[in-house]
Amino acid sequence: MNRTQALIELQNVSKRYRRRTAGSTRDTYAMRSVNLAIRPGEVVALVGESGSGKSTTGAIIAGLEKPTSGTVVFAGDTLPSRLSGDQLKDYRRRVQIIFQDPFSSLNPVHTIGYHLMRPLLIHKVAASRAMALQAAEGLLEAVGLQPAANYLHKMPHQLSGGQRQRVGIARVLATNPELLVADEPTSMLDVSLRLDIMNLLLDLRDKRQLGMLYITHDLSGAHYMADRIMVMYRGMIVEEGLSGVLLSAPSHPYTQILMNALTRDITGMEDIPSPVDTQSAEQGCSFANRCPHRMAVCVSELPDWATVEEGHRVNCHLYSCSS
Ligand SMILES: Nc1ncnc2c1ncn2[C@@H]1O[C@H](COP(=O)(O)OP(=O)(O)OP(=O)(O)O)[C@@H](O)[C@H]1O
Ligand code: SF4
Ligand SMILES: [Mg+2]
Repeated sequence: MNRTQALIELQNVSKRYRRRTAGSTRDTYAMRSVNLAIRPGEVVALVGESGSGKSTTGAIIAGLEKPTSGTVVFAGDTLPSRLSGDQLKDYRRRVQIIFQDPFSSLNPVHTIGYHLMRPLLIHKVAASRAMALQAAEGLLEAVGLQPAANYLHKMPHQLSGGQRQRVGIARVLATNPELLVADEPTSMLDVSLRLDIMNLLLDLRDKRQLGMLYITHDLSGAHYMADRIMVMYRGMIVEEGLSGVLLSAPSHPYTQILMNALTRDITGMEDIPSPVDTQSAEQGCSFANRCPHRMAVCVSELPDWATVEEGHRVNCHLYSCSS
């Protein structure tokens, strides 16, 4: 595949969840008109506070959820609205997801060897059990669990959290994916282990030219990991840019709050507004009820995108208004 061609593209993707309770229906827009592209070998970080729609975006990319509207293009082909059969199997092989909880992603009754050999056999990456065993050893070594023979017969509870996350990563590599969604892969690990896992992911990206969506709450982790950062707030991308460029001049008021929180080591994220509902979904800026710079236009009109500098865009009336 052409290295400059996007591996995955989301075009105007929205995701609505409908909750039915006694006598009423409530719609939640977890994503609104999200545009995003990831190229081979590129790490894109999706940053935002809890409930902003990061995991929903990751689940759509991983083929675990389907968009309510919009288009997903993978390796140049537009995906059908519902993947099924061999097409779904092939997609799951090429696009893999790592979850934040290394405990829940491993079955406690099976050995590490079983967890690694299963995808190798299901996806026919290995033609026999003997070949799968050999490949499983290679995967353990690729994620730094050496000698591999020491780990193959262990049960998940016999490993540390960091080792379990390494097994989780080895397992997703079994199918030789082109794209990884890493959904807060270090947030449940001790601080001392986080950098190890981040470095492992970067190393695998370099060796395998993997495209990666790296989901995080943490701007500093995003900076460390990503070529580009996209900041998400209440289902919308509000700012995006090359990591160094964006962080040297954060422009959206929400990104500025995230940056201040980082430097002052506080959350700054008290009284998070509830998820966007259909009544307010198309009205005004999603950040208007918290923004210190709010203007009249902010509550009535969705802002346009404006270029701050090359490789850096922001979705805010402060930059798109002439006033
Ligand atoms: N299956 C679902 N049914 C109904 N609402 C959902 C569902 N999944 C997510 N949501 C809602 O969509 C919004 C976005 O959720 P999402 O999990 O994508 O956020 P997030 O940014 O990953 O948050 P966190 O940082 O806490 O993981 C939230 O308001 C959430 O309650
Ligand atoms: S559009 Fe208006 S309310 Fe929204 S972030 Fe910009 S200034 Fe604030
Ligand atoms: Mg999440």
